[in-house]
Amino acid sequence: MATLTDPAASAHAPLGLTTTQSAFIERAQAAGELFISQPYELYSAENQETWRRLYRAIRPKWEKYATPQFRAGLDNLMLSPEAIPRLSEVNDKLSPLSGFKAKAVSGYVPAYLFFDCLRTRNFPTTITIRDGSRLDYLPEPDIFHDVAGHVPMHTDRRFSDVLVRFGEVARFAAKRAGTLPATPDEQRQRLESNIKALARFFWFTIEFGLMRSGSELKVYGSGLLSSLGELEHSIDSSDVQRFPIRLEWVVNQYFEIDHYQPLLFIVDSFDHLFDLVGHLEEWLHRGRLDHVAPGEPLVNAADLQSFLDARLELDA
Ligand SMILES: [Fe+2]
Repeated sequence: MATLTDPAASAHAPLGLTTTQSAFIERAQAAGELFISQPYELYSAENQETWRRLYRAIRPKWEKYATPQFRAGLDNLMLSPEAIPRLSEVNDKLSPLSGFKAKAVSGYVPAYLFFDCLRTRNFPTTITIRDGSRLDYLPEPDIFHDVAGHVPMHTDRRFSDVLVRFGEVARFAAKRAGTLPATPDEQRQRLESNIKALARFFWFTIEFGLMRSGSELKVYGSGLLSSLGELEHSIDSSDVQRFPIRLEWVVNQYFEIDHYQPLLFIVDSFDHLFDLVGHLEEWLHRGRLDHVAPGEPLVNAADLQSFLDARLELDA
């Protein structure tokens, strides 16, 4: 039994639900539990302070750089600047607007599973929060990225339809892989290329997308909306190239995750983005995503396997 002097217990106790340092998450992962609860009482005072500091620092930047749809989402969700949100309360506000729900996860969600959650209007949501000693450093997604960066966008009906459509394209990719007139090895290679194309599209839109808004550019990508430094950099810096989105560029363009993005793409509207996902499916159907340019992101074994498993299920 753990006691107050138990070194194992005391080593973890003050860390609460801090990203990469949470005993609760380690236990869930060790038990193979991907979908979990949000044990709100485990957030430490430092975790809550991290949320407050982040929220206060980024709020004026949202007002200046974020799309009107994101700002409306913030109002509709009534996220508190003072405390980490409870997902149940977020969902009470979110679900009536778009049918989406934030669903707590213990960590990395393999690609197919992630996209398929979107198809069913569930958003895999990280519950840990970054280490307060480095506010703008994100070793992996945290609740600030997922709930303050992504979820306000999900209140917008048209944007939420884009995510669902994206999930449908992923499902089509899984289903199609087994029907190609090719050897099993070639089928896997083409599927890997398809997954790379989907990941690139997701990255340059949902995570790092810009949108035209009158004569201005605004941010709708959640990777930017949850970054204290990169949000204004994405709009104001002359080091960033910003181009109207072109599908053939996006699916062939590698990206690196460990520095500010030097290249961003602009959509005209969420109707435009929705249509682009339709084109993505069409390209997939015609084999135009079977040999995209090599390079990042690498498709890891778990991602590929998740699509292969789905293919078997869909065939059954
Ligand atoms: Fe994200």
